[in-house]
Amino acid sequence: MTLEGHTLSPDESFGVFNRSSSTFVLPSLPFEVTALAPITGAETLGVHLGKHHQAYVDGANRLMEPMVKKFETAVDVISFARSVEAHGLLEQAGQALNHAFFWTCHQAAGLTRPEGSLEIAINDKFGDFTGFTDAAIALGKSRVGSGWIWLVADHEGAVRLELTRDAETLLDDPSLAVLLVCDVWEHAYYLDRASDRAGWIDGFFGQLADWSMAKSRYEHRLCREPDAT
Ligand SMILES: [Fe+2]
Repeated sequence: MTLEGHTLSPDESFGVFNRSSSTFVLPSLPFEVTALAPITGAETLGVHLGKHHQAYVDGANRLMEPMVKKFETAVDVISFARSVEAHGLLEQAGQALNHAFFWTCHQAAGLTRPEGSLEIAINDKFGDFTGFTDAAIALGKSRVGSGWIWLVADHEGAVRLELTRDAETLLDDPSLAVLLVCDVWEHAYYLDRASDRAGWIDGFFGQLADWSMAKSRYEHRLCREPDAT
């Protein structure tokens, strides 16, 4: 089986983009502000969503407001910003989209470990789940500044971890299926655990990450052989 190239469709903006008004919006979270404690406390969640994410939404909209051009999706904005080297818009839009996807990567009562074909792929790459979390922690600690840790799969179904800097996103890369992302900006964890980035990454992938969604995203992109009819 192969993995279908992944490009976000208009309904996969994770609630971050309003097509009719061509503006970014703050998505609604499907869980209570206390639901992610103790890994992510209510204060962290409130500030992260209501201050940081909101600021990226507002920042992107402020930069888009004078534009005549209208957009269908958040990825359209990012593609446009890349093409004209509008770095400010690229950063604000990238952060707005990354955060919207990040919120969908949380679960309140789902799988806390990978299962099925995704578990097999992770074990093939990392040995076992501990090997995976160790690799994610090492990758996160290797980044001195801010960024994002991504679990992605390629066209062949092989999984790997990727690290992007600052506001860079992988959600517009058609060669990847993006399964999970962990925010390693300090605002994601500093109120709960100060500078313990390793503890945050371990807690996210081991207790907060929505492995049901990751499994579904992995399996739904497994498709027929490319030369089959
Ligand atoms: Fe963040």
